[in-house]
Amino acid sequence: MVYIDVTVFAILSVDEKNQLMSIYFLYNRYWIDEFLRWEPLEYDNITQISLPSENVWVPDVHIHEF
Ligand SMILES: *[C@@H]1O[C@H](CO)[C@@H](O)[C@H](O)[C@H]1NC(C)=O
Repeated sequence: MVYIDVTVFAILSVDEKNQLMSIYFLYNRYWIDEFLRWEPLEYDNITQISLPSENVWVPDVHIHEF
């Protein structure tokens, strides 16, 4: 299961006639990868790490603009 948060920061333009709207937004994706485990007690209680996204599975989610 993948959770997605979307935060709209600004509405950049609205074209009522053509029903178009441009927005500036940020989205975050959250999921639990059952094949990845990190035991903080084994690594000096480090609870957060950063990994290159190329090295882990990432959800196949794309945002299409139209
Ligand atoms: C990690 O946390 C455990 C539990 O709180 C503690 O007993 C241990 O001393 C901590 N280890 C380090 C390296 O801080």
